[in-house]
Amino acid sequence: MTGKIFLKLIVGVFALLLLALVTVDYFATNVAQENYVQNLTQQLTDKGRMLALMFPAPESVTPEQARKMAQAVGGRITVVRADGKVLLDTDANAAEMENHRSRKEIREAFEQGKGSEIRQSATIGVSFLYVAVPAAGGGSAIRIAFPLSEINRQIGQIRGKILASTSAAFLPAILIAAILARFISRRLAAIMAHAGELARGNFRARLPEVDSSEFGQLAQTLNETAENLQQTVAQLQHEHAELEKLERIRKDFVINVSHELRTPLASIQGYTETLIDGALADPDHNMRFLGIIRHNAERLARLTEDLLTLSRVEQKRQKFEFDLHSANSLIHDAFELVGPIARKSLIELVEERAPDDVMVCCDSEAVSQILSNLLDNAIKYTPAGGKITVGAKALGTMVEFFVRDTGAGIPEEDLPRLFERFYRVDKARSRELGGTGLGLSIVKHLVAAHNGTTRVESVLGQGSTFFFTLPVDEAVLGEETLNPEFTAS
Ligand SMILES: Nc1ncnc2c1ncn2[C@@H]1O[C@H](COP(=O)(O)OP(=O)(O)OP(=O)(O)O)[C@@H](O)[C@H]1O
Ligand SMILES: [Mg+2]
Repeated sequence: MTGKIFLKLIVGVFALLLLALVTVDYFATNVAQENYVQNLTQQLTDKGRMLALMFPAPESVTPEQARKMAQAVGGRITVVRADGKVLLDTDANAAEMENHRSRKEIREAFEQGKGSEIRQSATIGVSFLYVAVPAAGGGSAIRIAFPLSEINRQIGQIRGKILASTSAAFLPAILIAAILARFISRRLAAIMAHAGELARGNFRARLPEVDSSEFGQLAQTLNETAENLQQTVAQLQHEHAELEKLERIRKDFVINVSHELRTPLASIQGYTETLIDGALADPDHNMRFLGIIRHNAERLARLTEDLLTLSRVEQKRQKFEFDLHSANSLIHDAFELVGPIARKSLIELVEERAPDDVMVCCDSEAVSQILSNLLDNAIKYTPAGGKITVGAKALGTMVEFFVRDTGAGIPEEDLPRLFERFYRVDKARSRELGGTGLGLSIVKHLVAAHNGTTRVESVLGQGSTFFFTLPVDEAVLGEETLNPEFTAS
């Protein structure tokens, strides 16, 4: 992966440098050629002028002299008369050469004092730079011709030097480009590998070295994306687990309800049949059987009543009338209700009064049910001679109530599940005492409907204390709090 990106980058850099090199070559060659030709033209003009001074009458120059002149200036020499007739040429037979009057360099020499042109020679077929100046007498012109091949060779040399030095200058650029390409390709490869990890669902993957470069920003964005995905997935997993848990609770609930209904119904059915089959006439048993039937009917009534309450509160269909009440009066009213039963069970009820100004915002009916459920339990699970204390104290924006008994206590392992529907520590004993295991669940839901919380402390053999909180005013009651206990069971 890294290799591919690196190769692409480096090939791109090379292509760019090559383009730069070609451009430099093109312009530099043009400039060099222009300069060289200009200089050469000037040099040849100067040399021509010197010859013109030295030989004021070139018409009379001998071929031998002309050959020496050509050698001295390093080019071909032609002498042309004012009318265009070629008098002498060091490389060709002058007599055979056509009239040169129309040649640009000759025309310019006679008209402007100097003339030049690059073109192919009609005489010998080679390209030349022609430079011509008039002789001192003005009757003829001296022309020096320099072969273009030589000019091209010289320019070729200059070009070679320019190319060599430009390439040398590009070397560090190539080196830097290679290092950069390597750096970029490595980071890109790391980012691509990371994206691949995300695509495969590994949202825990994170890219290191987050700097302020574009790569750093990209890495940071990818890391944030991974973080978001991780959170979303975790949340979905959590919600899925919650839904599964709720589904399990729902199934358990249906099973529990069926079971709880079946027992008293079977009992009612059995004793009714026994009575119909003849026991009605048996004075020894009929009253006892009818008593059992009534007891089970009451149990069914209590069970359905509790289930209805629970479902009303849970589905928020229960209508509450929230109002301010003094904590002491709530406790006092509850004592009024359970006082006779406690006395019958030889249990002492103690009121631990809160300051009179401790008020709570609640539905008094609901609190009455909460307290009577807790007191009912305390009485049921406390032996004769025991003591039950109820009190309240302000705790910030809440008031905490407690119901403490000196009863049997609850094993620690049962405490976490105590508030679940139908959960009973000792099923047989609870049933014997007429319990259905819904009392605490109702307590929990009623407290949660007040934005409060429920908890229990217990020491086996010494007693238990149940706590619940209620808000001090409407503002706290109305606060949007997600009470986790509310949906748990
Ligand atoms: N004060 C307590 N002391 C000891 N155990 C308790 C006390 N309160 C509750 N428990 C245990 O918690 C279980 C659940 O209580 P809960 O009030 O929900 O049901 P219940 O009393 O059995 O029946 P119900 O209240 O529906 O008539 C009880 O069966 C009992 O085992
Ligand atoms: Mg109970």
